[in-house]
Amino acid sequence: MDGNRIRETFLRFFEERGHRRVPSSSLIPPPESGLLLANAGMNQFIPYFLGQAEPPYARATSSQKCFRANDIENVGHTARHMTFFEMLGNFSFGDYFKTDAASFAYELVTEGYGIDPDRLWVTRYTTDEEAADIWADHVGVPRDRIVTRGKEDNYWWTHAAGPAGPCSEIYVDRGPKYGPDGGPAVDEERFIEIWNLVFMQEEVDGDANVVQPLPSKNIDTGSGLERVATVLQNVDNAFETDLFRPLLEVAESLSGRKHGVDASTDVSLKVIAEHARATTFLIADGVQPSNEGRGYILRRMLRRVVSHARRLGIEGGVLHPLIAIVVEQMGDAYPELVENRSYIESVAESEEEHFGGTLRQGMAMFDQAIADLDPTVETGQLPGETAFRLYDTHGFPPELTEELAAEHGLSVDRQRFDELMDEQKRRAKEAVKRQDMTGDAVADAAGRLGGSEFVGYQRLDADTAIGALVGPDGPLEVAHEGTPVRVLLPVTPFYAEGGGQIGDTGTIRTPGGVIRVTDTQPGPGGVHVHHGVVDSGEVRAGDDAHAEVDAEAREATARSHTATHVVHWTLRHLLGDHARQAGSLVAPGRLRFDFSHHSALGRDQLEEAELTANAKLAADDAVRAYETTMDYARSQGATALFGEKYGDIVRVVEIGDYSRELCGGTHVPHTGRVAVVRVLHEASIGAGMRRIEALVGPDALRHVNAEHRLLEEITHALGATDPEQAAERARRAMERIKQLESELGKIRKGDRASVVEGLAQKALPVDGVGTLLVSSVPGEDVNGLKELAVGLRDRMERDGAGAVVLGGTEGGAKLVAAVTKAAVDRGVTAKALLEPAAKAIGGGGGGNNPGLAIAGGRNPEALEDALGTIPARFSELLGGDA
Ligand code: SER
Repeated sequence: MDGNRIRETFLRFFEERGHRRVPSSSLIPPPESGLLLANAGMNQFIPYFLGQAEPPYARATSSQKCFRANDIENVGHTARHMTFFEMLGNFSFGDYFKTDAASFAYELVTEGYGIDPDRLWVTRYTTDEEAADIWADHVGVPRDRIVTRGKEDNYWWTHAAGPAGPCSEIYVDRGPKYGPDGGPAVDEERFIEIWNLVFMQEEVDGDANVVQPLPSKNIDTGSGLERVATVLQNVDNAFETDLFRPLLEVAESLSGRKHGVDASTDVSLKVIAEHARATTFLIADGVQPSNEGRGYILRRMLRRVVSHARRLGIEGGVLHPLIAIVVEQMGDAYPELVENRSYIESVAESEEEHFGGTLRQGMAMFDQAIADLDPTVETGQLPGETAFRLYDTHGFPPELTEELAAEHGLSVDRQRFDELMDEQKRRAKEAVKRQDMTGDAVADAAGRLGGSEFVGYQRLDADTAIGALVGPDGPLEVAHEGTPVRVLLPVTPFYAEGGGQIGDTGTIRTPGGVIRVTDTQPGPGGVHVHHGVVDSGEVRAGDDAHAEVDAEAREATARSHTATHVVHWTLRHLLGDHARQAGSLVAPGRLRFDFSHHSALGRDQLEEAELTANAKLAADDAVRAYETTMDYARSQGATALFGEKYGDIVRVVEIGDYSRELCGGTHVPHTGRVAVVRVLHEASIGAGMRRIEALVGPDALRHVNAEHRLLEEITHALGATDPEQAAERARRAMERIKQLESELGKIRKGDRASVVEGLAQKALPVDGVGTLLVSSVPGEDVNGLKELAVGLRDRMERDGAGAVVLGGTEGGAKLVAAVTKAAVDRGVTAKALLEPAAKAIGGGGGGNNPGLAIAGGRNPEALEDALGTIPARFSELLGGDA
């Protein structure tokens, strides 16, 4: 059974048993989940388990995209580590419980998949005797193959506060080839877990302590598709299943290597295959490479792919052909891959290209670090700081740094590196924990409140009440002046950030005080979370309240939102349908709009777009919003924005007869209210992705005025009387500067040539076997010294053994030694020549180039003494007597 067949068999099995087939939720979980990336099939159903929302169906089944980022660095090095995987699951929300869950699973495994019942083992939680009886008496599993296990193994929770319960797992015996007999407690290689059945019945806190029973008894099961495929296809591990084989083959053919021949090649091939698949899915769900959170995970993985590809000798792009395979193989099950294919390609390829550059810069940093090594200290280690900087700044995986260092006969101070990594991780963890504390309290309060009614499409104020108050350390009964708070209201006119539009600002007044609202964010279960601070008086939970949106800001935002739709339409109209929206920011008076397009828009194109958009706005068409079904909206050609998730009922915003988008945002009633949109600039944000920034309404005018003023200032500074002349004057001034610079350059070059000649005079014969030039050169930094030394040395090359040592004091004491090839052949390396001198200036240097070495030290005053050591050292190394 191939992977697609297993997935379909599973989903159909449960559909036939009354389960609604629910699409996988995005890998990006809602913020209130506290998760970085979706990690279990049950994630999207948490509000149903907790009773925070009414489930629209009692039974569900899904194949969920999951991501576990804990062991990225292990991927490739082991047979089993994976980041991205698919979890097949069936769920019951207060409907069936243990007996049916166990029977369903057993029936599918034995009859659906055809696994011999004699190969099956199950586990159950210590206190869950009921489960043992069900497996034995109802399902028919022999008692000696029912294993009892503790909380660590058989109690499941999300590792954040939320639903939890005891569980039972199903294991398959893969036979003696994989390990000793005795069941899952003895060997988890031989006995492989294929299914986890969780009996969701309790709510736990952040430490897995039971808080209260859930309102109903539920089922949450999870079965890793890759593991089932490993068993059914009778292979050793997931990389050998049909889910990975084609990807490995692409990597093999690009590199001309074979899997299974040599261990380090295998690592690289597996990294490329696994990471290419995982990153394709991450990008499809809207994750973009960045330096934090999810974006960093994505970036790190893409860079691992590129560096491993380089190591296999692949110079060109690898991601494009791999993405093609993933889309082809999994596009039917996950249509978002097909829909966003060109976007995925452009994001991945742009990071690939970018890392090409970073890889080079990182290599330069690496070479410099090697050159800076203290030759007097024989540690043979690259400092952990360097490895960490390479990792942190240039995205060099430490393994790559280690391999590179090994080529220079060095190791990496991995202990120090790990310390620095741990410090960074700890800082990151603390940041997450702090965020969690407020997050949990808000989620609790949201659960109690059960959503907020949003009245902000019709009105800008509302009489309501303080549903809940949360301060920096948790829930509050009363908040005093100056306290930062999160406020929940049962009824609110405040728009919560979404669809690119930023959250509303305004005030909430109670009989005792006033809260200034600085932002509104979406919270769990559809609640709006108002972020703000108590401006005066004190505010109590339960108080009557009057909530009022800042009308001016909202109007300015509404203008921007309508302008954004018109800009979107304009770009597609002028550039073609591919110019799809990929993200936007809608804020008072300004907008940012990202779209796919292959090349820069010229000045003329931008002006044309701006004129077209403004002409459309001036037509003053009506802007209408209505709710309808998703199917109807799609049939009307409404544009669904990338990466957004919509329910069955959607809101459509229509402008005149030309623009129709799914949109939850707020708009002006007629386009004339926008007045004007002014494009500031357009730029690339990655291969095939462009970004436009524009100002809207009065802000656009303010900007035009500011530009006007600036032009006046420039005109004045150039001594011109009107702006028309300014450009010509500036051009002339620039030409004159260039001319003067070139004259100055000539003068300097002459100076330098005489410096070189002067220095060359100082070369002295040594014992009739060589030539030595030692001098200090005031005013030269280390690069200047290096250039001079190398130039002078090159002139000496044909005169036999020779060396040039120059010293300077710019930026600390510096010494550069350059040695001719003949001298190197006689045993004089630049590094050895400098050794006593480097000591004298209180420092060190290094480098593995025998012909050139650089040293730096803290004692510039010892420079002359240091230079004084050179002649004797030179003779000594040549084997003569000083
Ligand atoms: N939530 C459980 C798991 O992830 C079962 O789906 O293993």
